Amino acid sequence: MTLTDLQALERDHLVPAYARMPVEFVRGSGALLWDAEGNEYLDFQTGLAVNSIGHCHPAVVAAIREQAERLIHVGNLFYSEPGLRLAKRLAESSLGGKVHFANSGTEANEAAIKLARKAKQQGTIVSVHRGFHGRTYGSLSATPQESKQAPFAPLVPGFVAIEPTAEAIAAAVDERTAAVILEPVQGESGVYVLGDEVLRAAREVCDAHGATLIFDEVQCGLGRTGTLWAYQQTGVVPDLLTTAKALGGGLPIGALVTGERLADGFAAGDHGSTFAGGPVQCAAGLAVLDVIDDEALLARVRELGEYLRHAVAEFPGVGEVRGRGLMIAFELVDGGAPDLVTRALTQERLVLNATGPTTVRLLPPLIIDRAQADDALQRVGRLLA
Ligand SMILES: Cc1ncc(COP(=O)(O)O)c(C=O)c1O
Repeated sequence: MTLTDLQALERDHLVPAYARMPVEFVRGSGALLWDAEGNEYLDFQTGLAVNSIGHCHPAVVAAIREQAERLIHVGNLFYSEPGLRLAKRLAESSLGGKVHFANSGTEANEAAIKLARKAKQQGTIVSVHRGFHGRTYGSLSATPQESKQAPFAPLVPGFVAIEPTAEAIAAAVDERTAAVILEPVQGESGVYVLGDEVLRAAREVCDAHGATLIFDEVQCGLGRTGTLWAYQQTGVVPDLLTTAKALGGGLPIGALVTGERLADGFAAGDHGSTFAGGPVQCAAGLAVLDVIDDEALLARVRELGEYLRHAVAEFPGVGEVRGRGLMIAFELVDGGAPDLVTRALTQERLVLNATGPTTVRLLPPLIIDRAQADDALQRVGRLLA
């Protein structure tokens, strides 16, 4: 089928909820993608932080194939080894409590919000501006962005949105607060690193009032910022952590990880999902963690991240550059980010993402090397020249 055929099918048969770029990718390997005509692209977008270990990583493909040949689905009324092994691995590498699986980031956050509410038996959920936690009603209610919330009002009651500052958080949380939910590095709004003082203030005020501190690491976790979990660079440990995106190597999976205090907060029947924790996606998750939970890889993420941030800052027309590890955004002083991203795709065969009119986001695979970083810089440099 030609691109025109695909566009006609989309127009006639898909609810128009996405603005697609004019390309069909048919194959991927590592940091590279190929379109239907055989053109090669360098992927610095990774399906929005999903393909963190590159496309079709052989270990993930093998794990999926091996598990799919034995058992694809059995459901949560029975035992299944891959999910139990992945839960152990996720908990032991982070908060030390227990895991509840979901199918996506938004669902992992729904689980976190429900668990925090149950623990306090009521209470408000405090989130911050520029935050993004997903599109289902609970997570959307914690996503204070007018364009995403307004068409779907009324939202879930009991959500409060404040500025992402230490003072605002300290003032907003009291004994009626069930939880504060934050991304340590805010991704969707354009890669804003929350200061350690903001996270510390949230920790202190949650402790003072018996509220739950939730870190949404759906985008910034799993090595993206150069440590396995983003919170590990902040000195602040949350009560609950959510993950998704990169975890399944491309398969849909999300997870809520608890600390000790809330490990037994859900009782049987409180929460669940038909597909969550399925053997194929969990086998993929174990293979992904084998690759990412590696200090040499994480050190390279930190090093290449710093290298890219400094290099991008030298380009003409670039203003602020933000980020941590390989989660980077830069501002174009004259705007035109969506246009730059389109030209990157069509002229330079470089896959990027714009988070707004002035902001370009780089989310390369964590397995890139220095030569691929330089290659991407050259392509961006030509576009900005
Ligand atoms: C920080 C964060 N939380 C939650 C989500 C929602 O994840 P999903 O699209 O898998 O529901 C996203 C997606 O971009 C995200 O970046």
